[in-house]
Amino acid sequence: MSISFDPRNLLAHMVGDGNGLTQAEIDEGKPAALAALQGFRQQFDAGAIGFPALPNNKALIDEILALAKKLDGTYDTVCVVGIGGSALGCWALDCAMRGPHPVQVKKPRLVILDNVDPDFIHNALESMTPKKTVVVVIAKSGSTAETMGGFLIVREWLMAGLGKKAAGRIVAVTSEGRGDLKVLATTEGYATFHIPENVGGRFSVLSAVGLVPAALIGLNIKKLCRGAAEMTENSWSEDLSSNIALSAALHHWLIWTLKHKTMQVAFPYSNFLWGTAFWFRQLWAESLGKAKDRTGTVIHVGQTPIAALGTTDQHSQVQLYIEGPNDKVFTFWTVKKTKNAGKIPKAKLGLVGFDYLGGKTMATLLDSERRATEAALAVNERPNCTFTLDKVDEEHLGAFLQLMEFETAFLGELLNINAFDQEGVELGKKFTYALMGRAGFDEFKQQFADYEKKRG
Ligand code: PA5
Repeated sequence: MSISFDPRNLLAHMVGDGNGLTQAEIDEGKPAALAALQGFRQQFDAGAIGFPALPNNKALIDEILALAKKLDGTYDTVCVVGIGGSALGCWALDCAMRGPHPVQVKKPRLVILDNVDPDFIHNALESMTPKKTVVVVIAKSGSTAETMGGFLIVREWLMAGLGKKAAGRIVAVTSEGRGDLKVLATTEGYATFHIPENVGGRFSVLSAVGLVPAALIGLNIKKLCRGAAEMTENSWSEDLSSNIALSAALHHWLIWTLKHKTMQVAFPYSNFLWGTAFWFRQLWAESLGKAKDRTGTVIHVGQTPIAALGTTDQHSQVQLYIEGPNDKVFTFWTVKKTKNAGKIPKAKLGLVGFDYLGGKTMATLLDSERRATEAALAVNERPNCTFTLDKVDEEHLGAFLQLMEFETAFLGELLNINAFDQEGVELGKKFTYALMGRAGFDEFKQQFADYEKKRG
């Protein structure tokens, strides 16, 4: 497994003093980075945060593989019902290992019902058959409105097709000791996997949340966890020069806070990493966008994550990135070895727009385009850095996801915030419950009515 981080285009001599980091600034930040590592380690050792331990849960992996073996050959579709951290990881894994949906060829299909758009759900159901579908319903809280609503529809659809056998086609992934999903799963006898309390939704991709769907669509979850375990070991190292997550956290923290880059563009040059970019967007936004620091001081901190795809978004976003406000840091994600080179035929058309490409490969073109964009940004004093994955296989993917999670946790320490809560989304959820008539939310019904009155 080989993943590296190249921060050279974040340096002042490449992008100017106002936009880049000096060696003195980096050296001054190093003690804080080491303190962040130690602070996070203490939380892990105390059992408060659990994601670093996920890849070593061999008993869980065996249990999931046993379920996948039992169901093998009985389905052509895996339908995940979940949202946020209970959906994005599944998409990241599927997209990375089997390709983005429009051009995916591998079976079984993965259908993710996250949004509650009724037409989307209708079309999804039309595309599946109850006999050939396994449903995985995922909700840590066991009560998220979108997931509960979507699941009620899918459950009824399954029961209409299969009668009493429906329960045998449903797998629930939820908390062990709370939530109505757990109650229903027990009553109806679904196969059930538990999400540890100390693992938050957006850090749960290597728990049953990601591993159950991954195993059901045929991904090698042992390799996924092996790569993640290797990265975990690397991320606990106090040697900043070899600890990739810590080094990236230090550079991203400095460029954000010292050079005021309040947005980060995650820029994969790989369609296969597109799902991971959306998973990362949630991880970074929900973990690091906070009103208060740990002392209770109001700080309204956050760095807006943006997902862009290379080379596609060179023709959509790069004009803004190069000439617009200099408020972003760009993090390229590149893959050294693609499975296919994409040889371009030597057509010899006698046309300059075609002939120089003949005999080259799409892999070389992709790499040249990325290097060209990095350079163009740097020349225009736009700081950028690059993660390089040797290839996209299960081991590299597991390692990369774990690297992102560690980096996020370290950033939380550096900013002195709680990266593991999400108070900001609670009020909207409570208003929704009130609007939909859930018992116990009358107070929010009143608050919502006051808001509407004020609006006129
Ligand atoms: O990261 C998080 O905690 C959230 O994004 C949750 O994953 C999301 O709100 C879904 O929650 P649940 O799994 O309880 O349905």
